[in-house]
Amino acid sequence: MQFKAMVLSNVELSPGYFRMRMTAPQELASSAPGQFLMLKVNDAIDPLLRRPFGLFDVGSFLPEYAGCGAQVYCEILYKVVGKGTKLLSALHHGDLVDLLAPLGKGFDLGPAGEEKVLVGGGVGLAPLYYLAKELKNRGEKVRLFAGGRNRDDILCITEFERLGVETYVATDDGTLGERGFVTQVLEPHLAPGTRIFACGPTPMLNAVAKMAQKSGVPCQVSMEAYMACGVGACLGCVMKGANHTEETPDYRCVCKDGPVFDSFELQWS
Ligand SMILES: Cc1cc2nc3c(=O)[nH]c(=O)nc-3n(C[C@H](O)[C@H](O)[C@H](O)COP(=O)(O)OP(=O)(O)OC[C@H]3O[C@@H](n4cnc5c(N)ncnc54)[C@H](O)[C@@H]3O)c2cc1C
Ligand code: FES
Repeated sequence: MQFKAMVLSNVELSPGYFRMRMTAPQELASSAPGQFLMLKVNDAIDPLLRRPFGLFDVGSFLPEYAGCGAQVYCEILYKVVGKGTKLLSALHHGDLVDLLAPLGKGFDLGPAGEEKVLVGGGVGLAPLYYLAKELKNRGEKVRLFAGGRNRDDILCITEFERLGVETYVATDDGTLGERGFVTQVLEPHLAPGTRIFACGPTPMLNAVAKMAQKSGVPCQVSMEAYMACGVGACLGCVMKGANHTEETPDYRCVCKDGPVFDSFELQWS
């Protein structure tokens, strides 16, 4: 679905990290956690391509926005890393952006009764909030393991706690939570009956996938890749599938087959 969305708020939560809320059509309410949107920052030729962002939250409007003409909102959580996100960070209430959403394959929530373990590195927390909300709505036990370089990279923890999620934090420099990698904090909590959902930098996902395999725990990972079209047409976002060899190529499109994959589907280096 392509639509124009009106920016309702765009707030800097921590240096370089923003949370933006936009209006959305009713159909977006049936999106799944883990799906993403492609956003055109402005009508100019540069930047030409839309930028992909995970759905941080989707919900029905609060009364304070009654009158804006939409019934549903969506939110993204993003880090300013280049031209597109810099322009995005300068948008204000009332500005319009062009969106394609919802795109891709989201998380499989799994059977009820398991313990759901969410692992996020830095801005990789973005798609996990919408997931946590859906899991808590189903009455599930949810734990969040959040990692970053320092305290500025740990975002929205209180929002997760307000949902009733048990949270664990690790930072490389120890400025928040335990000092070290989030995987060190995670490892003792993995046992049969848990299911992992992870999003973050590839080395972190690689470590989580290996840990899950060792513990026999199912694990889904949300991957990032450079995207041009976002809908499976340009093949710009492919990754190697687990059975890929030079003789028998096995590629997966992150935008169409993912961005969420079972960790065993992919080739990890
Ligand atoms: C499915 C998906 C979901 C995403 N969700 C989020 C999200 O929720 N929040 C968020 O902050 N970011 C997210 N990203 C990454 C985001 O799309 C990029 O950071 C953004 O497109 C950068 O645009 P830019 O114009 O600011 O940077 P550019 O000027 O295009 O690039 C700036 C720097 O960022 C690097 N970069 C840009 N895009 C990517 C990428 N896809 N993977 C790795 N490095 C990249 C470039 O190599 C360069 O060093 C997601 C990416 C994908 C594929
Ligand atoms: S971005 Fe074009 S095929 Fe995935």
